[in-house]
Amino acid sequence: MSTDPSGVSRVPVPWNRTIPRSRLFDALSLLLPAGEAFVIETLEQWRAQVGDSLATPMQAEVDRLIREERAHQRAHRRYNQALIAETPVATAAALRASRAADELADLSLPMKMALTVAFEHLTTVLSREILGRPYLLPDDGSRHSRMWRWHAQEELAHSHVAMEAAALCGIGHGRRALALCLATACLSFDVLCCWSALCRCDTAAGASRLSLLVDACSFVLRGLPSLARMGLGWCRGFVPTAGAARRGAK
Ligand SMILES: [Fe+2]
Ligand SMILES: [Fe+2]
Repeated sequence: MSTDPSGVSRVPVPWNRTIPRSRLFDALSLLLPAGEAFVIETLEQWRAQVGDSLATPMQAEVDRLIREERAHQRAHRRYNQALIAETPVATAAALRASRAADELADLSLPMKMALTVAFEHLTTVLSREILGRPYLLPDDGSRHSRMWRWHAQEELAHSHVAMEAAALCGIGHGRRALALCLATACLSFDVLCCWSALCRCDTAAGASRLSLLVDACSFVLRGLPSLARMGLGWCRGFVPTAGAARRGAK
Protein backbone atom coordinates (compact mmCIF):
# COMPACT_ATOMS: atom_id res chain seq x y z
CA MET A 1 0.00 0.00 0.00
CA SER A 2 1.61 3.29 -1.06
CA THR A 3 -1.35 5.61 -1.08
CA ASP A 4 -1.11 8.58 1.24
CA PRO A 5 -4.60 8.91 2.75
CA SER A 6 -3.83 12.09 4.63
CA GLY A 7 -4.45 15.20 2.60
CA VAL A 8 -3.50 17.13 5.76
CA SER A 9 -3.64 20.77 4.75
CA ARG A 10 -3.97 22.38 8.19
CA VAL A 11 -2.26 21.68 11.48
CA PRO A 12 -4.45 23.35 14.11
CA VAL A 13 -3.05 23.28 17.64
CA PRO A 14 -3.90 21.19 19.50
CA TRP A 15 -4.96 18.52 17.01
CA ASN A 16 -3.99 15.65 19.34
CA ARG A 17 -5.88 16.51 22.58
CA THR A 18 -3.21 18.79 24.12
CA ILE A 19 -0.39 21.03 22.92
CA PRO A 20 2.49 18.85 24.20
CA ARG A 21 1.03 15.72 22.58
CA SER A 22 0.37 17.50 19.29
CA ARG A 23 3.79 19.13 19.21
CA LEU A 24 5.56 15.81 19.79
CA PHE A 25 4.17 14.48 16.51
CA ASP A 26 4.74 17.83 14.78
CA ALA A 27 8.40 17.71 15.83
CA LEU A 28 8.72 14.15 14.51
CA SER A 29 7.10 15.13 11.23
CA LEU A 30 9.56 17.98 10.72
CA LEU A 31 12.51 15.61 11.15
CA LEU A 32 11.19 12.62 9.18
CA PRO A 33 11.69 13.73 5.54
CA ALA A 34 15.43 14.28 6.11
CA GLY A 35 15.78 10.88 7.83
CA GLU A 36 13.82 9.18 5.08
CA ALA A 37 15.99 10.83 2.42
CA PHE A 38 19.05 9.40 4.19
CA VAL A 39 17.53 5.90 4.27
CA ILE A 40 16.55 6.04 0.58
CA GLU A 41 19.94 7.34 -0.57
CA THR A 42 21.84 4.77 1.50
CA LEU A 43 19.80 1.83 0.21
CA GLU A 44 20.08 3.07 -3.37
CA GLN A 45 23.85 3.37 -3.00
CA TRP A 46 24.05 -0.15 -1.57
CA ARG A 47 21.78 -1.59 -4.26
CA ALA A 48 23.91 -0.03 -7.01
CA GLN A 49 26.99 -1.55 -5.41
CA VAL A 50 25.65 -5.12 -5.04
CA GLY A 51 24.01 -5.13 -8.48
CA ASP A 52 22.68 -8.50 -9.67
CA SER A 53 23.96 -10.47 -6.69
CA LEU A 54 20.71 -9.66 -4.88
CA ALA A 55 17.94 -12.28 -4.93
CA THR A 56 14.85 -11.11 -6.82
CA PRO A 57 12.54 -11.16 -3.76
CA MET A 58 15.04 -9.02 -1.85
CA GLN A 59 15.29 -6.57 -4.77
CA ALA A 60 11.51 -6.27 -4.70
CA GLU A 61 11.52 -5.70 -0.92
CA VAL A 62 14.13 -2.92 -1.21
CA ASP A 63 12.21 -1.32 -4.08
CA ARG A 64 9.05 -1.39 -2.00
CA LEU A 65 10.77 0.18 1.02
CA ILE A 66 12.16 2.99 -1.14
CA ARG A 67 8.78 3.56 -2.80
CA GLU A 68 7.02 3.70 0.56
CA GLU A 69 9.60 6.03 2.12
CA ARG A 70 9.19 8.40 -0.84
CA ALA A 71 5.43 8.43 -0.27
CA HIS A 72 6.01 9.15 3.44
CA GLN A 73 8.31 12.02 2.52
CA ARG A 74 5.67 13.55 0.27
CA ALA A 75 2.99 13.24 2.95
CA HIS A 76 5.19 14.74 5.67
CA ARG A 77 6.43 17.55 3.43
CA ARG A 78 2.80 18.52 2.79
CA TYR A 79 2.09 18.28 6.50
CA ASN A 80 5.19 20.34 7.31
CA GLN A 81 4.26 23.03 4.80
CA ALA A 82 0.92 23.43 6.53
CA LEU A 83 2.64 23.41 9.92
CA ILE A 84 5.18 26.06 8.84
CA ALA A 85 2.39 28.24 7.43
CA GLU A 86 0.83 28.35 10.90
CA THR A 87 4.03 28.17 12.98
CA PRO A 88 6.95 29.70 10.99
CA VAL A 89 9.50 28.77 13.70
CA ALA A 90 9.14 25.16 12.46
CA THR A 91 11.25 26.05 9.38
CA ALA A 92 14.44 26.13 11.45
CA ALA A 93 13.88 22.59 12.74
CA ALA A 94 13.29 21.19 9.26
CA LEU A 95 16.43 22.90 7.94
CA ARG A 96 18.49 21.70 10.87
CA ALA A 97 17.36 18.09 10.28
CA SER A 98 18.21 18.31 6.61
CA ARG A 99 21.69 19.74 7.39
CA ALA A 100 22.30 16.92 9.89
CA ALA A 101 21.31 14.32 7.27
CA ASP A 102 23.64 15.99 4.72
CA GLU A 103 26.54 15.65 7.16
CA LEU A 104 25.93 11.89 7.35
CA ALA A 105 26.35 11.57 3.59
CA ASP A 106 30.16 11.49 3.92
CA LEU A 107 30.20 8.46 6.22
CA SER A 108 31.27 5.06 4.91
CA LEU A 109 28.57 2.86 3.37
CA PRO A 110 28.77 0.28 6.22
CA MET A 111 28.20 3.03 8.80
CA LYS A 112 25.34 4.50 6.78
CA MET A 113 23.78 1.03 6.49
CA ALA A 114 24.08 0.59 10.26
CA LEU A 115 22.42 3.98 10.80
CA THR A 116 19.69 3.06 8.32
CA VAL A 117 18.94 -0.06 10.37
CA ALA A 118 18.88 2.11 13.50
CA PHE A 119 16.49 4.70 12.01
CA GLU A 120 14.22 1.97 10.72
CA HIS A 121 14.27 0.26 14.12
CA LEU A 122 13.32 3.49 15.89
CA THR A 123 10.41 4.11 13.53
CA THR A 124 9.32 0.49 13.96
CA VAL A 125 9.28 0.81 17.76
CA LEU A 126 7.18 3.98 17.58
CA SER A 127 4.90 2.55 14.88
CA ARG A 128 4.18 -0.55 16.94
CA GLU A 129 3.15 1.62 19.88
CA ILE A 130 0.99 3.92 17.73
CA LEU A 131 -0.88 1.02 16.18
CA GLY A 132 -1.02 -1.22 19.22
CA ARG A 133 -2.24 1.30 21.83
CA PRO A 134 -4.33 4.43 21.47
CA TYR A 135 -2.47 6.45 24.12
CA LEU A 136 0.01 8.42 22.00
CA LEU A 137 -2.37 8.96 19.12
CA PRO A 138 -6.07 8.10 19.29
CA ASP A 139 -7.56 6.21 16.36
CA ASP A 140 -10.32 8.79 15.90
CA GLY A 141 -10.51 8.82 12.10
CA SER A 142 -9.14 12.36 11.86
CA ARG A 143 -6.87 13.15 8.90
CA HIS A 144 -3.88 13.53 11.19
CA SER A 145 -4.50 10.21 12.89
CA ARG A 146 -5.06 8.45 9.55
CA MET A 147 -1.83 9.81 8.11
CA TRP A 148 0.24 8.72 11.08
CA ARG A 149 -1.42 5.28 11.20
CA TRP A 150 -0.88 4.76 7.47
CA HIS A 151 2.80 5.63 7.90
CA ALA A 152 3.10 3.33 10.93
CA GLN A 153 1.49 0.39 9.08
CA GLU A 154 3.94 0.69 6.20
CA GLU A 155 6.90 1.01 8.59
CA LEU A 156 5.91 -2.23 10.31
CA ALA A 157 5.39 -4.02 7.00
CA HIS A 158 8.91 -3.20 5.75
CA SER A 159 10.69 -3.20 9.12
CA HIS A 160 12.78 -6.32 8.30
CA VAL A 161 14.22 -5.03 5.01
CA ALA A 162 17.00 -2.72 6.25
CA MET A 163 18.18 -5.37 8.72
CA GLU A 164 18.38 -8.00 5.97
CA ALA A 165 20.22 -5.58 3.68
CA ALA A 166 22.71 -4.78 6.47
CA ALA A 167 23.28 -8.49 7.10
CA LEU A 168 24.03 -9.00 3.39
CA CYS A 169 26.40 -6.08 3.59
CA GLY A 170 28.22 -7.80 6.48
CA ILE A 171 27.45 -5.13 9.08
CA GLY A 172 28.61 -6.43 12.46
CA HIS A 173 26.65 -6.45 15.68
CA GLY A 174 28.97 -3.89 17.33
CA ARG A 175 28.54 -1.35 14.54
CA ARG A 176 24.77 -1.77 14.61
CA ALA A 177 24.71 -1.27 18.38
CA LEU A 178 26.85 1.87 18.09
CA ALA A 179 24.62 3.22 15.32
CA LEU A 180 21.48 2.57 17.35
CA CYS A 181 22.90 4.49 20.33
CA LEU A 182 24.02 7.40 18.10
CA ALA A 183 20.73 7.57 16.17
CA THR A 184 18.70 7.43 19.37
CA ALA A 185 20.73 10.18 21.06
CA CYS A 186 20.67 12.48 18.00
CA LEU A 187 17.00 11.95 17.24
CA SER A 188 15.90 12.36 20.87
CA PHE A 189 17.89 15.58 21.17
CA ASP A 190 16.49 16.96 17.91
CA VAL A 191 12.90 16.02 18.78
CA LEU A 192 13.25 17.62 22.20
CA CYS A 193 14.73 20.85 20.77
CA CYS A 194 12.06 21.04 18.10
CA TRP A 195 9.24 20.19 20.55
CA SER A 196 10.33 22.89 23.00
CA ALA A 197 10.70 25.50 20.21
CA LEU A 198 7.16 24.76 19.01
CA CYS A 199 5.77 24.87 22.56
CA ARG A 200 7.55 28.19 23.23
CA CYS A 201 5.93 29.52 20.10
CA ASP A 202 2.53 28.45 21.42
CA THR A 203 3.06 30.20 24.74
CA ALA A 204 4.24 33.33 22.90
CA ALA A 205 0.99 33.14 20.91
CA GLY A 206 -1.03 33.13 24.13
CA ALA A 207 -1.21 29.52 25.38
CA SER A 208 -1.03 29.24 29.16
CA ARG A 209 2.47 28.26 30.30
CA LEU A 210 1.08 26.58 33.41
CA SER A 211 -1.47 24.42 31.60
CA LEU A 212 1.16 23.45 29.02
CA LEU A 213 3.46 22.35 31.84
CA VAL A 214 0.67 20.40 33.55
CA ASP A 215 -0.28 18.73 30.24
CA ALA A 216 3.35 17.85 29.52
CA CYS A 217 3.85 16.30 32.98
CA SER A 218 0.59 14.38 32.74
CA PHE A 219 1.50 13.15 29.23
CA VAL A 220 4.83 11.81 30.47
CA LEU A 221 3.45 10.26 33.68
CA ARG A 222 0.47 8.58 32.04
CA GLY A 223 2.72 7.57 29.15
CA LEU A 224 5.15 5.62 31.33
CA PRO A 225 3.72 2.23 30.22
CA SER A 226 4.16 3.33 26.59
CA LEU A 227 7.71 4.44 27.32
CA ALA A 228 8.46 1.11 29.02
CA ARG A 229 7.09 -0.88 26.05
CA MET A 230 9.05 1.26 23.59
CA GLY A 231 12.16 0.90 25.76
CA LEU A 232 11.84 -2.88 25.58
CA GLY A 233 11.32 -2.70 21.84
CA TRP A 234 14.37 -0.45 21.53
CA CYS A 235 16.49 -3.03 23.41
CA ARG A 236 15.52 -5.65 20.82
CA GLY A 237 17.58 -3.62 18.37
CA PHE A 238 20.68 -4.98 20.12
CA VAL A 239 19.73 -8.62 19.61
CA PRO A 240 21.75 -10.24 16.81
CA THR A 241 19.56 -11.64 14.03
CA ALA A 242 20.55 -14.97 12.53
CA GLY A 243 19.81 -15.94 8.95
CA ALA A 244 18.93 -12.49 7.62
CA ALA A 245 21.76 -12.52 5.09
CA ARG A 246 20.86 -16.01 3.82
CA ARG A 247 17.32 -14.87 2.99
CA GLY A 248 18.47 -12.01 0.76
CA ALA A 249 21.41 -13.57 -1.08
CA LYS A 250 21.06 -15.31 -4.42
FE1 LIG B 1 8.79 6.29 6.65
FE1 LIG C 1 10.85 2.74 6.96
